[in-house]
Parts: sequence; structure tokens; C-alpha cells
Amino acid sequence: MSGLKLFRYTAWAAVAALAVVSGVLVYQQTAGNKNSGALIEPLAAIGGPFELVNGNGETVTDKTFAGKPTLIFFGFTFCPDVCPTTLSELQGWMDVLGDDAGKLNYAFVSVDPERDTPDVMRDYVAAFDERITPLTGSREQVDAIIKAYRVYAKKVPLDDGDYTMDHSAAVYLMDADNKFVGTIAYAEEEENALRKLRRLIDNAPASS
Ligand code: NI
Repeated sequence: MSGLKLFRYTAWAAVAALAVVSGVLVYQQTAGNKNSGALIEPLAAIGGPFELVNGNGETVTDKTFAGKPTLIFFGFTFCPDVCPTTLSELQGWMDVLGDDAGKLNYAFVSVDPERDTPDVMRDYVAAFDERITPLTGSREQVDAIIKAYRVYAKKVPLDDGDYTMDHSAAVYLMDADNKFVGTIAYAEEEENALRKLRRLIDNAPASS
């Protein structure tokens, strides 16, 4: 077998193996849905307690959001595209949800607290929707939530001496008990995203 052929066979074998693994994962998620009605089984490994600071410099913890499901995502205000796009999409979902939008909390957490001070975060998020809570904090506070939520965030130096941030783009969906139940991927179809949000709302305990 020529080197090229061997490479092709190996590549196809890898694709086939990946397909089997993906199939199993999809099956497990579907099976989980039937049993519990949750998006996927809550994974204890993602999420947990946190302590951050909002746009007014006030302390916000996971308990601040208790009782309502929360959409939380991570980024930074200097972000050229992913964060503004996600914030716009979030705004669009809230518009479609109408009154039901009030049954969820929304939080945008900076992974770049050195530049994203509370003031910067407040002004930035206010340009999209004031119902979204801007969150930042000390480097230690931000690193703690990045770790707890298993977020990828990395400083990347730019040629001009400045830097940008590579970061995970998914929106995390947390239930009313702050348990992780799934994500909405970057640029996910609006219909899918709304289906997940409505399920999150439907599964939440009725608020009094
Ligand atoms: Ni971003």
C-alpha cells in the first residue's frame, strides 16, 4: 500500500470511529431527554458557586441568581466579533420570548478583568440589553469561575504589543438550582436555541 493510500485508509478509519462515538453521545443525550425532560443530565462537573462583581461594583454570587434558570457566557468587551454577535443573538432570543424572557437570568462574564472594569462592562452590556448582568471581578475571582465552568480563555499577544483573548463561545444553560444542563453553541440556529430556552423555562419551578 502506498503511503498516500495508507494515509487515506487511516483517515477514513478515524472518521468512522468518530462517527460511532458521536452516535453514542447523541443517543445518550436523547435517552436522557426521555427520562428526565432535561436537556441533558445535569453534569456536576461544570458550574458551581462563584463570586463576582456587577457593573455597579456590587458583589454577585450564584445565590443572586437562585430560583431562575440562568444563561451565562464568557468573553471580553474588546472582542471583535464573537461576543457582540452572541449579545445580539441573546437580545433576539429575548425579543422572541417576550414576557417569558423575564423567567431567565442573563450574565456576561469577562475573561479579561484587567481591561473590563465594572464601568466598562456596564456601558458595554447596556448598549445591548440592560437585562443582561455584566460580571467581572479580581483576576482570582474570574479565574475561579473560568475553572469551575471549564471555560477556555487564553491571552494572545498582538504584534502592536496589545493583546486579544481566545475564549469559549458557547452560552451555558444553568437550571434554577445552578446545575449545568447544556449549552447553546456559537451561531446555533435560532429555532434550536429557542427550543432549549423554552425547555429551560418549562422545567423551572413555578415562581410565586
Ligand atoms: Ni468574544
